[in-house]
Amino acid sequence: MDMTMTHEGSGLSSDLSLEFLRVVEQAAIACARTMGQGDRRKSDQVAVEAMRQVLDTVAIDGTIVIGEGERDEAPMLYIGERVGMVHAKDITGPRPVRYSDVDIAVDPLEGTNLCATGAPNAIAVLAVSERGGLLNAPDLYMEKLVVGPSSKHAVSLDAPVADNLNAIAKCLGRDVDDLVVIVLDRPRHEQLIADIRATGARIRLIGDGDLSAGIAAAVVGTGVHAVMGTGGAPEGVLTAAAMRCLNGEIFARLVVNKPEHEARCRAMGITDFDRIYRSTDLAPGRSIIFAATGVTDGSLMRGVRFFGDGTRTSSLIMQNQPHQVRFIDSIHVVEGMNVKIKF
Ligand code: FBP
Repeated sequence: MDMTMTHEGSGLSSDLSLEFLRVVEQAAIACARTMGQGDRRKSDQVAVEAMRQVLDTVAIDGTIVIGEGERDEAPMLYIGERVGMVHAKDITGPRPVRYSDVDIAVDPLEGTNLCATGAPNAIAVLAVSERGGLLNAPDLYMEKLVVGPSSKHAVSLDAPVADNLNAIAKCLGRDVDDLVVIVLDRPRHEQLIADIRATGARIRLIGDGDLSAGIAAAVVGTGVHAVMGTGGAPEGVLTAAAMRCLNGEIFARLVVNKPEHEARCRAMGITDFDRIYRSTDLAPGRSIIFAATGVTDGSLMRGVRFFGDGTRTSSLIMQNQPHQVRFIDSIHVVEGMNVKIKF
């Protein structure tokens, strides 16, 4: 099944987006093997290794701008690491004449705890743009409000929760108590949760994974109408890339409340700590590719299924130029096996 929405345009090629599909599929397959084993580090490690390995088979000259951390804390996919076939030493066979120069934001396993416990909505994910097309955000917290296309013109990060929910309900032609808001289940959100409850809106508290929650909020029919609260800034940049492709919106502000936070921001060229970012600020690239594969079952993608001599994955691959949103169901067949393909 390949449900494709297409618009004319030019940018990073659709062929390239399918290459990145391979990257997230393999990262998801690797960590899905560890599902439920209770070892979040191991789950993350195998996803990182698989993603790193497959990235080197893609005809790009890539730089990781959002990754696993600084070089001294992450052996692979660290910020600033160069990836892609142009840097791979052990490639045999002909090399392409041209490599795409790209910046890449990766989260090889978004929701490490979700995978380790077999809980829903763990995904392997990355976003790609031309050089400079993704904000090099520090690994701090970020206040976020994520909504879909219908209500993006009607909300504001600084508006009271009740005002935003009333505006979203009006845009969607329903009552506030018909809305579902996703919030990370954290003590820091006690007041936010109380404010949402006071409006009568329903809440889905999640253990982890505000990125897949944000994607769901921008897709009609998922039953999710907004994501509110504070989560990771790297996930915010990836959410922004997804919003560029889904026409949804993220409103976000870095949480800078310690001198060391300020220093980290300044080191990355950020000096306005009160700035409210939108998707075009966090992912300003002219050309954006976003790719995600479900690791565990989720609202938009199923998790990885193993069936002895094959593997089935469910992915979302999108780009803004040409504008395409594809839900892709892949069956990975073990070579030489007489696999029966089921619909
Ligand atoms: P990991 O993938 O690193 O486990 O992070 C998951 C996540 O829940 C993100 O979705 C979210 O943005 C962030 O962690 C929230 O951070 P914290 O767990 O510190 O509240």
